[in-house]
Amino acid sequence: MAIFLEHRSLKFHSSTFQTDVDLSKVIYAFLIIIVIERIVAFQKACRAINHLPGIRSPFSPLGAFGAILGTRWWQTGSDMVWLRKKDLYQTNETISTVSWLYGSPMIYTTNMDVMKQFTSTSGLFVKSYEATLGSTLYGPNVFSTDGTEWRKHRRVMGPAFSNSLYQMVWDESLKTYQDMVSAEGWSDKKTVDVPVTQVATFKFALIVLGLCAFGFDFNWTEPAATTEGEMTVQEAMRTVIDNYLYLIFTPPWMKRLMPSFKRLQKAYDQLGQFMKNQVQVRREEIRGYASGEYTRKDVFSMLVQANECEAGKNKLEDSDLIGNVFVMLFAGHETTANTLATTLAFLSLHQDAQDEVVQQIIEVVGYDRNPAFEDYNKLNKVLAAFYEALRFFPAGYLMLRVMGEDAVIPIPNPRGQEGTQPCPIPKGTWVVVDMVGVHRNPRYFEEPEKYKPSRWHGLPNDSEQFTAFSVGSRACIGRKFATTEAVCFLTMFLRDWKVEPLLRAGETVEGWKTRVLDAKIGFTLGIKDVPVRLIRRERPSRM
Ligand code: HEM
Ligand SMILES: *[C@@H]1O[C@H](CO)[C@@H](O)[C@H](O)[C@H]1NC(C)=O
Ligand SMILES: *[C@@H]1O[C@H](CO)[C@@H](O)[C@H](O)[C@H]1NC(C)=O
Ligand SMILES: *[C@@H]1O[C@H](CO)[C@@H](O)[C@H](O)[C@H]1NC(C)=O
Repeated sequence: MAIFLEHRSLKFHSSTFQTDVDLSKVIYAFLIIIVIERIVAFQKACRAINHLPGIRSPFSPLGAFGAILGTRWWQTGSDMVWLRKKDLYQTNETISTVSWLYGSPMIYTTNMDVMKQFTSTSGLFVKSYEATLGSTLYGPNVFSTDGTEWRKHRRVMGPAFSNSLYQMVWDESLKTYQDMVSAEGWSDKKTVDVPVTQVATFKFALIVLGLCAFGFDFNWTEPAATTEGEMTVQEAMRTVIDNYLYLIFTPPWMKRLMPSFKRLQKAYDQLGQFMKNQVQVRREEIRGYASGEYTRKDVFSMLVQANECEAGKNKLEDSDLIGNVFVMLFAGHETTANTLATTLAFLSLHQDAQDEVVQQIIEVVGYDRNPAFEDYNKLNKVLAAFYEALRFFPAGYLMLRVMGEDAVIPIPNPRGQEGTQPCPIPKGTWVVVDMVGVHRNPRYFEEPEKYKPSRWHGLPNDSEQFTAFSVGSRACIGRKFATTEAVCFLTMFLRDWKVEPLLRAGETVEGWKTRVLDAKIGFTLGIKDVPVRLIRRERPSRM
């Protein structure tokens, strides 16, 4: 957080202190010095970014104070991109934030051309240590690194993300959905009230990730135990991911003092030990097989296998392997789970859109068989409903980089004007892609406030026209993983159930919409608890 970085030292000469000095005068002088220093620093910061218009507030939105205070009329926090989405970019798509009390200046953009520059691997924009800290709990990884280090990680991760993985994701999603329906006792119900859809989607996504990314062996009813057997892997995963901020920021002495921390520390240690053991297990298995015969297809196994084939300086350490396994939990769980819940929320409000999706499901799959991975490309309307929900609630809502050196960035002129303006950005400035703003920018979307899945119907598969997974060589490595899981889940779900908003007594659909279609912002951007009623769809009776 910016606060730790920016210590400006104010030097005092001890000779100015004399016994007869009036203390209040010293304090007064001290305050004046601080005020002058702040004014000068503020003006300098504004000049350094060529007075790019934007937010002027006491603290920067992404520093410690911004995080603690949140967004208020006099202050902006990391949630400003949601709370002030309607007014932040009224005149300019790229703005600056300069704090007059504390925190570094930042550049926020909702322009895709600027986004492409910020997320490029040119070396000019680097990952910030603070912003990637959470992902490195178990070691450096493909998300946290830059340059040649990043290439090394991505090279070893790459081979795992292939069609055989997506086939596995499809099959396991299907099985897990069926497990869920029977374990939750929904099999013979005509209607089911689900007060919080996220409870189901978070568990679902965790199991699919556990099976296909971690290669663990568990299902809806039988969670796998860690080696010590005291805590299930699912529990340990959930505990670590829910509390990662405490794991990072609690000083060691406090950890020892707080009894509640014991359980957290144990979850952290057990998950780490479990992953370490699993590296060993896989390595031995792989060495026992001739190449090409290895049957495990999960990301973890493929990662160990790819690393076995690397030589010399391209080989990753065990801690890097574990770092990369963990980052999938960090980057892939909440994001996918939230977006599934968001999709169901929108489809329950838009029955016409739901009908259109179901019609395609029946045309492509019918009633008599389970959907197969081969159907994925034909189920483009299911995917479109998911994409459109993700456009409204982009789970990865901020993409953060830091300027590695001073540079001048071309910034496109406001909509309707050709050309660009050069904007100098000093080394160390945080540059931020506001994904909420990008995906509501009228430059790219007609009627951005409307839920219209049809805007994605004609999209070529995996097209970079859909940008919520980022674009270019650092785009989300798990994109197809997430969409495969989502299309399978939604196809099964919507074929079985008509989804409607579950209203409170006396609540209107409009009221539900206001209550539910609002962001829950943490490390990812989610949606408020989604209550839905499921009504079993009648199937035409078989001849
Ligand atoms: C709806 C679901 C998802 C969304 C919206 C999403 C979004 C994103 C975005 C926007 C980035 C770029 C971040 C940046 O450059 O700062 C990213 C990167 C990444 N995502 Fe995802 N993601 C999703 C699911 C997944 C899944 C399921 C996995 C793993 C199985 C995953 C693993 C990663 C990794 C490892 C990176 C870093 C890639 C790199 O820097 O080379 N994500 N994701
Ligand atoms: C910001 O918007 C105003 C009004 O449209 C425009 O005149 C100005 O050039 C813009 N500034 C930048 C840096 O694009
Ligand atoms: C879940 O896993 C356990 C243990 O592996 C197994 O006994 C059980 O049959 C599985 N349940 C389902 C529904 O597959
Ligand atoms: C894209 O979809 C079409 C069918 O709509 C399919 O034939 C093609 O193989 C797909 N391409 C990829 C790369 O999946």
